[in-house]
Amino acid sequence: MSGATIEREAARLRAELAERLITEGAVTSSAWRAAFADVPRHVFVPVFYRQSRTEQPAVDLSTPDEWLHGVYADQLLVVSPDVKSSSTVPSLMARMLEALDPADGDRVLEIGTGTGYNAGLLSHRLGDSNVVSIDIAADLVNDAKARLASIGYHPTLVVGDGAGGWPSDAPYDGIIATCAPDSVPETWLDQVRPGGRIVAPIATGVAVIDVAPGRKGEGRFLPGGAFFMSLRPTPGQSDLAVQIADIKSAIASTRATDLDEMVWFDSDFRFVLSAVVPDLRFLTKLDSGIAIFTHPDGSWVRLDDNTVAQGGSRRLWDSVEKAHRQWDELGRPSREKFSLTIDGCTQHVRLDGSDVAWLLPRGR
Ligand SMILES: C[S@@+](CC[C@H](N)C(=O)[O-])C[C@H]1O[C@@H](n2cnc3c(N)ncnc32)[C@H](O)[C@@H]1O
Repeated sequence: MSGATIEREAARLRAELAERLITEGAVTSSAWRAAFADVPRHVFVPVFYRQSRTEQPAVDLSTPDEWLHGVYADQLLVVSPDVKSSSTVPSLMARMLEALDPADGDRVLEIGTGTGYNAGLLSHRLGDSNVVSIDIAADLVNDAKARLASIGYHPTLVVGDGAGGWPSDAPYDGIIATCAPDSVPETWLDQVRPGGRIVAPIATGVAVIDVAPGRKGEGRFLPGGAFFMSLRPTPGQSDLAVQIADIKSAIASTRATDLDEMVWFDSDFRFVLSAVVPDLRFLTKLDSGIAIFTHPDGSWVRLDDNTVAQGGSRRLWDSVEKAHRQWDELGRPSREKFSLTIDGCTQHVRLDGSDVAWLLPRGR
């Protein structure tokens, strides 16, 4: 395919994607419709890696048809072989941007620059001088800067830990995060003006929070899951192979359990579980059928059929079972039945019409 043919095909597929986002209700305003119709996702995703259990083949310009159709599908794209970053599902990006609902000329901070595509959409909507975006990975920020410049946008892009926001350009009218903190960092509350808005993935749901003076805020959760990578303290990766080998061979007492690893894939339960046991991770399912869960505090779970072994400082599976019992007794509520209240450093996820509330951990 020639360069001109690629651009023509990209424009056609982009228009189709924008229409689809409208039909599905992810895009509801003409301003975001124009942004999705104009900003070229393929510029921000020159390569993506298909994910399977055994391999991660790269898809790029060498197979232009497959690449362009992948880029303009409504799907998450892993953009680095070590899964260091990804380009979020466009319909989820759209729902988050619509929920942010900035007015003309508003100033927005994005946490998690990644490919730069969301910063491109924000620049289209607000003007690039009103957009600041931060990522912890310097190489990603450099690439994003070059891609944005290639289509004429020059937002402020910075390298740093987004847990601290970016005070130099505060106050903002809004913050949008595309990586997930355990609770809303106090720095973000400090850097958004009262009356401004924070849209962030919390406990695998998108929280839409209206900020009030004195580090206060009230929020709701949008329907549907938001499985973003965590707001991590460093750009590095942990050594998975060593962890798996250690947990496989660790000696621990076992007991029977009624739950299996499939509870992890129940999207509504995952929300409650993430509020109760943040940072729990389904590490892998081995060919032998053994499923392994881990937590950054070193605790782990090994599930083999109906038998569970647990190690580390706390019994993670006991917490999963307790959370599942409670969620079941509450009638298995989904995300949009919950609110988020922020009062100083205390943040609660509350179930509507009940006194059930979970205190989110302070911290990242
Ligand atoms: C889902 S990707 C972001 C996608 C991006 N918005 C886009 O349009 O392509 C999540 C990003 O969050 C970044 N990230 C993770 N922890 C971070 C932190 N502490 N501070 C800033 N960025 C962080 C990752 O490096 C990754 O690029």
